[in-house]
Amino acid sequence: MKTATKTTTRKTTTKKAPATTRSASVKAKSTAADGLKEFYIDCLKDIYWAEKALTKALPKMAKNASDKNLISVLEEHLSETEEQISRLERVFELVGKKAVAKKCEAMDGLIKEGQDIMESTEIGPVRDAGIIAASQKIEHYEIATYGTLCAFAKTLGYDDAAKILHETLEEEKGADLNLTERAYNNINFEATEEN
Ligand SMILES: [Fe+2]
Ligand SMILES: [Fe+2]
Repeated sequence: MKTATKTTTRKTTTKKAPATTRSASVKAKSTAADGLKEFYIDCLKDIYWAEKALTKALPKMAKNASDKNLISVLEEHLSETEEQISRLERVFELVGKKAVAKKCEAMDGLIKEGQDIMESTEIGPVRDAGIIAASQKIEHYEIATYGTLCAFAKTLGYDDAAKILHETLEEEKGADLNLTERAYNNINFEATEEN
């Protein structure tokens, strides 16, 4: 009899677990992606919006920077970003879709954070450090995004698209490295520390 009672208890516990998981699930919208291909296209729309937004944000950051190395890193990355937009248009073509931008809330937030940092600092080395901090968060977001997009493209058999996306991924990594090595490591903070 004791054995029978134990078995009943175990069964009840097993049944409760999936019910809890279901109640925590997010309800999908009626427009939810149907399969990995559709989700991949959604992600492309997201980063397409992000890159376009960056073509407006980067010149603003360059105008607020004081260090000449930082200014040139930002300006060089602006022209890379313009090329990345054209690359994304080719990636859309390869999946048979027209390039469409969909607001990327994450990039919108990162750009706003950059704006807040500029408003919270005086022009000079500290603002430069803030611009680098904001830009590196942006680059890391892009690195994560292009890494994911490369993986999706490969999984879906879009090998040519994966190569194009990988090219951009390497550029984003390069921009991140330039921000540290060419810009941050050359900033002279001593002038502000004297004040
Ligand atoms: Fe980019
Ligand atoms: Fe970038």
